[in-house]
Amino acid sequence: MITYDNVEIRFGDFVAVPNLNLTIEKGEFFTLLGPSGCGKTTILRALAGFVTPSKGRILIDGKDVTKVASDKRNIGMVFQNYALFPSLTVKENIAFGLKVAKKDKAEIEERVANIAKEVELNQKQLARGISELSGGQQQRVAIARAMVMRPKILLLDEPLSNLDAKLRHQMRIQLKEMQTHFGITSVYVTHDQDEALAMSDRIAVLNAGHMEQCGTPREVSTEFVCNFLGDVNRLEPRVSQRMVDAGATNIDPTLPSYLRIEKVRLAAKGEPTPPGLIAVEGVVAGKSYHGINYTYELKLGQTTMKSVVPEDGMARHFEPGDPVVVLTNPENVLQYPETQNEKAAA
Ligand SMILES: Nc1ncnc2c1ncn2[C@@H]1O[C@H](COP(=O)(O)OP(=O)(O)O)[C@@H](O)[C@H]1O
Ligand SMILES: [Mg+2]
Repeated sequence: MITYDNVEIRFGDFVAVPNLNLTIEKGEFFTLLGPSGCGKTTILRALAGFVTPSKGRILIDGKDVTKVASDKRNIGMVFQNYALFPSLTVKENIAFGLKVAKKDKAEIEERVANIAKEVELNQKQLARGISELSGGQQQRVAIARAMVMRPKILLLDEPLSNLDAKLRHQMRIQLKEMQTHFGITSVYVTHDQDEALAMSDRIAVLNAGHMEQCGTPREVSTEFVCNFLGDVNRLEPRVSQRMVDAGATNIDPTLPSYLRIEKVRLAAKGEPTPPGLIAVEGVVAGKSYHGINYTYELKLGQTTMKSVVPEDGMARHFEPGDPVVVLTNPENVLQYPETQNEKAAA
């Protein structure tokens, strides 16, 4: 278990992290998410022992490591730029830390072979120079080099951001599988929201050195949808259920659902439903004008939702009390699956 206890980190007069309190559980895949410059790397480096907090303590398994040298913390690190030794072979790169630790030759051979298998590097690749490998292979070498030391904690600082999109997706899965396989406590840094949501047990959302939120992907994504996507309807289960009854096959009514208000269209009752859309009946409860749009408040049985309709002469408009048909493409309904941990806890 890792604890940041009232940690402040300064660079001269500049306070990069004002007061961080955070606990990361054993075996957890924990992600620091936030825009460039918000302090993710700094927080990671403090845990690794490369920067010393100006206030507060960092504890690992209850032990205060704030002043413990970085090579005594048993932490592995993987960086965005891999930081491999270009003049050494793949095998020599992976074996480097074991050599420094003066392990005997047989043990080094065995441990390198085992970890290479784990990250899917074959004998041929082990003999190659670093520059002969692709970006994805180099990243696997970097992971193997960290993991061969059997660290208690693995830190990953934007490890996938130099890879192309397809490889990034593959590596996400591989990395996550490996983390689960080893059960290693991992602290992962990314500015990529999707990556964080897909891989993490929990996410801390950072902004200017402050932790704005901390929770499971599902807890955090609720806020994302509302903060980053503008005005959103949070659909009650019975509305989701009515959409399922109306033919939506992609919606799970047991999960929270979100629908942006501009994705909700209105039609008069009795009008045919356009292809690809689903129709749910409701009544106009309110209407307000905002420059170029009308915002409608709609009643669907006991629940309400909103729709924004442009005043462009194309769309039909309605008055409070009018019965309407609420149209939407079910593809626009956003849902986030439960994470494995949440399932396990349930
Ligand atoms: N060694 C340093 N000296 C001075 N300022 C630094 C140093 N390292 C980071 N910073 C500053 O601290 C802030 C957080 O940086 P960093 O942790 O690298 O952010 P992130 O990893 O989220 O992009 C930035 O404003 C950065 O300029
Ligand atoms: Mg960084």
